[in-house]
Amino acid sequence: MSVQLPHILVLATGGTIAGRGDSPLQTIGYRAGQFTVGEMLGELPDISASVRVSGEQFVNLPSSALTPIDWLKLAQRINILLSDSDIDGIVVTHGTDTLEETAYFLHLVVRSNKPVVLVGAMRPATALSTDGPMNLINAIRVAASADAQGLGALVVMNDEIFSARDVTKTSATRLDAFRSPDFGALGSIDNGQVGIYRRLLRKHTLGTVFHISELAKLPRVDIVVGYVGADAVLVKAVLAAGAQGIVLAGTGAGHISPSGDKTLHAAKQRGTIVVRSSRTGGGRILPSPPDDFIACDNLSPQKARILLMLALTVTRDTAEIQRMFGEY
Ligand code: SIN
Repeated sequence: MSVQLPHILVLATGGTIAGRGDSPLQTIGYRAGQFTVGEMLGELPDISASVRVSGEQFVNLPSSALTPIDWLKLAQRINILLSDSDIDGIVVTHGTDTLEETAYFLHLVVRSNKPVVLVGAMRPATALSTDGPMNLINAIRVAASADAQGLGALVVMNDEIFSARDVTKTSATRLDAFRSPDFGALGSIDNGQVGIYRRLLRKHTLGTVFHISELAKLPRVDIVVGYVGADAVLVKAVLAAGAQGIVLAGTGAGHISPSGDKTLHAAKQRGTIVVRSSRTGGGRILPSPPDDFIACDNLSPQKARILLMLALTVTRDTAEIQRMFGEY
């Protein structure tokens, strides 16, 4: 009896993994989002003995050009693809700048246990020792692995496997840019062998209340940074732009200047949902009742923003949103 090989679909969105420089030595200042998914897959060694691979071009952009509307369209497309019994997993090629944000969005809204793996590269496809093809083949292997099912969205970079919830880009240039500062990687890929050692307890994918199939846009949520001398200007600007929620990326355990704090509390009184997070890159922010903002737990400000955007699609109840920050 012949056993059907897993079928992995590679959805390409652009980034450095599809980037083109002027010479093999150019690793900064190249053009992201140049090569097509067909060209990227054509660079890989033959793995047809272990996995069937097909490609689809979603967009071809630097990841800083993506918008929340692209997130919705991407997630809607992935949910349709994963409902096809012939597709066993998805790999999303993506620029590394905002890869962790798209990954966490998909982690919360994909309606399937099948693996969704995001991958990028730190060196463009034309560079000497580019990391793109090895990262891509590793991501395909993870997406085809039975062990990767039910883990939510994963990120594969530099031979390591991370949870979308915890991973962040920690260097503008190094090949080992991706880390999970508080918890570490879930596993690795070595000599083509996928090894996953830990599972996430927080809810994701089928365990969330977020259904985006009918959504055309997400509520506006902005991030305001705390720093020495920060006043109320940024808070007032995002409120004027129509923010329904604000994430404070505060100093230390989520602090801001007295005038910034006063303006945020006034915004909260008028119904804006405010989340307290830290710009430090690690550690937990916990609720401190009775009159505090929502606490982000250990989500980074950029991921707290995504959870708040999605939370606002189902509720404006602050107790309910605080509960979500403890669950997701
Ligand atoms: C991008 O995010 O599109 C450019 C940077 C990268 O992919 O590494």
